[in-house]
Amino acid sequence: MKRGHYTGRDFRRAITIEDLRRMARRRLPNFSFEYVEGGAEDESTLRRNRDVFERIAWLPRALVGAGPPDLGTQIFGRPVNMPVVVAPTGFNGLLWPQGDIALAKAAAAAGIPFTLSTASNCAVGRLAAAVQGNLWYQLYAYKDQSVVDRLIDRVAEAGCEELVITADAPVLGSREWDQRNYRSPMQLSLASKLDVLCHPRWLSQVMLPSGAPTFENLVEFLPPGQYSALIGAKYSFSQINSRLSWHDVERVRKRWPGKLVVKGLLCVADAQRSVEAGVDGIVLSNHGGRQLDGAVSGVELLPAVAAEVGDRLTLMVDGGFRRGSDVLKAIALGAHAVMIGRATLYGLAAGGEAGASHALDLLRAEMDRAMLLLGCGSIPELGRHLIHS
Ligand code: LAC
Repeated sequence: MKRGHYTGRDFRRAITIEDLRRMARRRLPNFSFEYVEGGAEDESTLRRNRDVFERIAWLPRALVGAGPPDLGTQIFGRPVNMPVVVAPTGFNGLLWPQGDIALAKAAAAAGIPFTLSTASNCAVGRLAAAVQGNLWYQLYAYKDQSVVDRLIDRVAEAGCEELVITADAPVLGSREWDQRNYRSPMQLSLASKLDVLCHPRWLSQVMLPSGAPTFENLVEFLPPGQYSALIGAKYSFSQINSRLSWHDVERVRKRWPGKLVVKGLLCVADAQRSVEAGVDGIVLSNHGGRQLDGAVSGVELLPAVAAEVGDRLTLMVDGGFRRGSDVLKAIALGAHAVMIGRATLYGLAAGGEAGASHALDLLRAEMDRAMLLLGCGSIPELGRHLIHS
């Protein structure tokens, strides 16, 4: 019998993240799937984020009698059930109704943090009221400082304790496949509209109840009553700060009393600079291959960055994680935690909160199995000695 993937809709039958990705692709109209899936320009960095894991090989230890592994660790002094954080991703409301809340609940149930984005569809206060969990907030340091200050204050009021500044977006990357689905900004092409009509289930669940989800965190900065996704997106675009600099990080550091994370660094010198700026954590990231095409993958920089600053801040990494063993490889190379973006979005798109929980369960089960096969009983036992070089 030929090998073949399950082609139905029951997300519980997905046995890998790739299975969930296939279900997400079938359930979503193309423009929505493409927003999740695509990378910048030739997508070479997008591919590199996956290929890098194939080039890292384990040196397992046999016959150590490790027993059931403990994946628990701490991030910023808080216990987590595994070294994973759900990454900030915009427009989750296009994948599932109230997608941000569904994903945050799945993260909370798995005992890991969830990061809301400035470009999310749910306001930070509303999320905090709906979800009991470790909630982080990702900030775009926009041009208008009064808007930045207001966003920071609202995050503090909502009770979040971790703020993530995205450093790699002084301009939006060119996601060309994404652009091809539109005739003008946020206006779908005729072909995309017809494709939407071919997804009636998604249409009736996501779009028909209340239309395209708005950018709730930005609503208060928009003209009264003009809160549509189109107007929100234009506003966000107009606020992108091409002069984004360490000065912005230092400014936010002064205002923000909680933990501060800078996401989107890709060199040792910038990691050192972040220590000087007083940040508590960094994420080595190329923004899921969506910004500078041709950029290195964060995982490749882990050994050098860990050696330089690994004991002075919380070192995280993202990009291309689709397997439990990918996560463990990053930890073995010096990361304290990994951010997961698309992997849980596939689960969310395939089955809402339960689908996202399923994605996290799959990753967790893969980590458990790999730990046993490696001869590792707990996260601190992972290290460079297990990596073939
Ligand atoms: C993106 C922006 C919203 O990658 O961060 O789509």
